[in-house]
Amino acid sequence: MSAQLAIRGASKRFGGVTANDDISMEVPQGRIVGLIGPNGSGKSTLFNSIVGYHPVDGGSIRFEEREITRMRTAEIARLGLIRTFQQTHVFVQMSCMQNMAIGDAEAGRGLLRLMRPVSAETRERAETLLAFCGLYGKRHLMAGELSFGQRKLLELAMALMLRPRMLLLDEPTAGINPTLIKGVIERLQRANREFGVTLFVIEHNMRVIMTLAEHIHCLAHGRLLASGSPDEVRRDARVLDAYLGAR
Ligand SMILES: Nc1ncnc2c1ncn2[C@@H]1O[C@H](COP(=O)(O)OP(=O)(O)OP(=O)(O)O)[C@@H](O)[C@H]1O
Ligand SMILES: [Mg+2]
Repeated sequence: MSAQLAIRGASKRFGGVTANDDISMEVPQGRIVGLIGPNGSGKSTLFNSIVGYHPVDGGSIRFEEREITRMRTAEIARLGLIRTFQQTHVFVQMSCMQNMAIGDAEAGRGLLRLMRPVSAETRERAETLLAFCGLYGKRHLMAGELSFGQRKLLELAMALMLRPRMLLLDEPTAGINPTLIKGVIERLQRANREFGVTLFVIEHNMRVIMTLAEHIHCLAHGRLLASGSPDEVRRDARVLDAYLGAR
């Protein structure tokens, strides 16, 4: 069977900047795959192209045998390909857009506020996912009252609420303290195992991505530099050079 996500020759330019240059890579179903590379190497750009935030200039992107290269974000999300954001302010926008506050209907506030009537099943699922992310005790708070790390976990709960088949996570541990990082890693592994969600993860924290990913792709200057197991990528001279060269 072909890969769940297959990128072929993806290119994207912004004015004079070639952010992605002829990138081909695959993400197999059910796996955890990492995407690394120095700042500005084109990682977020590639995610944006995959989810239809902006189209590629050249190349093709297929998800579960379907051509999604020119599809709109909402259509792609409906196929079960969902992204989370590098910056949390985008998260707040998304939270408003999706009417995803789920919660305390009686008090009319909180993470679990119901924006419209939902089935008992949906409500139970929302509660289960809040508990899954360790936020059940915080369900009476507003998202803005959570810590940065807790908001990241809420974002994960919201993404899981959509029953994704593949989650694209842009730096899920950025800005989170080391104690909470462990909790995020464990929850991502559980989401992969228990809900069968494929994870494609951009991460700057090498320890995190080496623990989490089974396979890693490394970008540099918008091109695919190396791919392999965490051990192979860690020892790859080109990868080491790219990171050292970026300092
Ligand atoms: N919307 C945009 N308009 C113009 N240039 C952009 C845009 N998005 C990205 N770029 C440029 O494309 C290049 C790649 O940026 P991108 O955000 O994809 O890198 P990244 O690998 O995610 O970096 P980081 O690790 O710092 O998040 C950069 O030179 C960036 O300035
Ligand atoms: Mg980025």
